[in-house]
Amino acid sequence: MMRIPDYPSADSTRWSKVDEYFADLLAPTDDHLRATLKENDASGLPAHDVSATQGKMLGLFARMVGAKRILEIGTLGAYSTIWMARALPPGGKVVTIEFNETHAGAARRNIERAGLNDVIDLHVGKALDILPTLAAPFDMIFIDADKPNNPHYIRWALQLSRPGTIIVGDNVVRGGAVADPASDDANVKGVREFLEIIASEPRLDATAIQTVGEKGWDGFSLAIVRE
Ligand code: SAH
Ligand code: DHB
Ligand code: MG
Repeated sequence: MMRIPDYPSADSTRWSKVDEYFADLLAPTDDHLRATLKENDASGLPAHDVSATQGKMLGLFARMVGAKRILEIGTLGAYSTIWMARALPPGGKVVTIEFNETHAGAARRNIERAGLNDVIDLHVGKALDILPTLAAPFDMIFIDADKPNNPHYIRWALQLSRPGTIIVGDNVVRGGAVADPASDDANVKGVREFLEIIASEPRLDATAIQTVGEKGWDGFSLAIVRE
């Protein structure tokens, strides 16, 4: 599926073609995932879902660490949530937080249709109001909401983690803008402060990786809480 990349470039079409090739082979879609993207579009949600290859990667991370409890900050229509929920063993849970009622409504319909009501706990509210009410620890945490609050989210993630918890941050490249220390973009500033906190936090060991694909030029951070 072609979509308008968040960070277009002259190579966008080629990046999308490779994403499509990989996704068809390795992260094939199905009725529930297709219906989720369709519902999100019909409900007017922004196309900020992870790509299929990224969703599959989140699921693989979860399985690599044997995650049973996953926290997601920023649900949108639950596309990434569904990928992670499907990677859980029986009895596993994804707790996901969304403050926009329209987004949460679409997410609820998508989760129900996918048969994941018992696996996904959707909390509707501002992440900074919900996070203090959650029981620790989580085995994996995916941070993908409002980037200016990322410095708060990484502190909460640490609070809600245990040694071995992995913390993934989405959209840390932002078409290359992250490398500009003079940027006055609130998203870039939030992501830079988030990365600086991760770098200076002795409990975390981390990296970040650039990605190109159907979403254009962006990337993930990946951290693990030290034993
Ligand atoms: N993880 C999703 C995409 C999330 S987009 C996926 O890949 O499919 C980011 C979401 O964070 C949006 O739906 C937005 O409404 C939500 N959000 C933004 N600020 C928030 C806040 N303060 N608390 C909770 N959710 C927030
Ligand atoms: C935006 C947010 C996302 O989570 C994403 O994956 C892509 C774009 C945005 O706010 O522009
Ligand atoms: Mg994102």
